[in-house]
Amino acid sequence: MSECLTFEYQVPGDDFTRAGEASSSVKNKLKMMGVDSGAIRRVAIAMYEGEINMVIHAGGGAIKVMVTDDNIRIILADTGPGIPDVEKAMQLGYSTAPEEVRSLGFGAGMGLPNMKKYSDNMQIDTEVGVGTTVTMDIHL
Ligand SMILES: Nc1ncnc2c1ncn2[C@@H]1O[C@H](COP(=O)(O)OP(=O)(O)OP(=O)(O)O)[C@@H](O)[C@H]1O
Ligand SMILES: [Mg+2]
Repeated sequence: MSECLTFEYQVPGDDFTRAGEASSSVKNKLKMMGVDSGAIRRVAIAMYEGEINMVIHAGGGAIKVMVTDDNIRIILADTGPGIPDVEKAMQLGYSTAPEEVRSLGFGAGMGLPNMKKYSDNMQIDTEVGVGTTVTMDIHL
């Protein structure tokens, strides 16, 4: 029998000052639960990038984190514009971030590649005009 803890967050789309709050909250919770620090680091990086993407590219969204004995699953769901070409979006350095966002230090085109790198499994479900759901697993 495996217990499942779930954390849920709403990410506002227009507030850069609050971007990253959900991922730091999860980081703290996992620390208190005594989760392996390497796994926490990977969760924090991958989730932060997904959270920022929601703010920058999708007008916000909802995040669900499910923790079991052997896995941490992060589900990032938004109702933004969707990603027309996922393969292209996954390329290192590819970004559609506007200039004002780049001036804040975002838009290097590193987020999605890093989410893939730091998770054990990543799936992108997206439809133009409907939204995007990114599911990542970090094994414990
Ligand atoms: N949730 C999303 N909704 C719509 N488009 C997205 C979403 N996430 C990513 N994208 C698209 O994929 C591109 C690449 O994303 P990625 O996170 O790799 O780079 P970035 O966000 O532009 O820059 P960085 O993450 O380095 O600050 C984005 O520029 C955007 O066009
Ligand atoms: Mg990004």
